[in-house]
Amino acid sequence: MAALLVWTLISPSSSSGSDKGEEAWPTHTACKEGGLEVLYQSCDPLQDFGLSIDQCAKQLKSNVNIRFGIILREDIKELFLDIALVSKGSSILNFSYPVCEKDFPKFSFCGRKKGEKIYYAGPVSNLEIDIIEGKYQVLLELYNENRSTVACANATVICS
Ligand SMILES: *[C@@H]1O[C@H](CO)[C@@H](O)[C@H](O)[C@H]1NC(C)=O
Ligand SMILES: *[C@@H]1O[C@H](CO)[C@@H](O)[C@H](O)[C@H]1NC(C)=O
Ligand SMILES: *[C@@H]1O[C@H](CO)[C@@H](O)[C@H](O)[C@H]1NC(C)=O
Repeated sequence: MAALLVWTLISPSSSSGSDKGEEAWPTHTACKEGGLEVLYQSCDPLQDFGLSIDQCAKQLKSNVNIRFGIILREDIKELFLDIALVSKGSSILNFSYPVCEKDFPKFSFCGRKKGEKIYYAGPVSNLEIDIIEGKYQVLLELYNENRSTVACANATVICS
């Protein structure tokens, strides 16, 4: 994981951007433990990013530690996360979560500028959830107050 983060942060894809064509980013494993496997792939044509989830398990605790590394494409005075959950081709849940709000920056990286590197290692709070067995498709998009994409990923969650 550390290697991926370093690689992500030192190889801005913009250098080879335009001739990358239709190639997809590699699939990364965010976690694989306790009957839960989370694979993700960046769906931002401009860049990949690093993500790992610690203590991954079918019963997700209310505080999960993650590690996340990315080069910012946009300023993030405000930052929002949209999550769409799909199972067997049908949409189950859409969810929007404010990560950085103007008067309520929850994380140390809120307010960082375009071009800056972010590396976050620490807790994110979520609802304590029991993931039901199965295979899910999850689409994640981070965007700022101008609706400009900061990061985008599609993930596969396999719970067995
Ligand atoms: C992301 O989406 C692409 C295109 O639909 C798909 O081929 C790929 O398997 C997905 N990756 C993950 C990790 O879900
Ligand atoms: C959003 O757009 C406005 C108007 O173009 C601009 O002044 C502002 O800096 C933009 N904010 C971000 C975070 O890019
Ligand atoms: C989630 O959003 C998509 C696209 O906007 C929509 O097609 C879908 O019906 C929504 N799903 C739910 C469960 O609201």
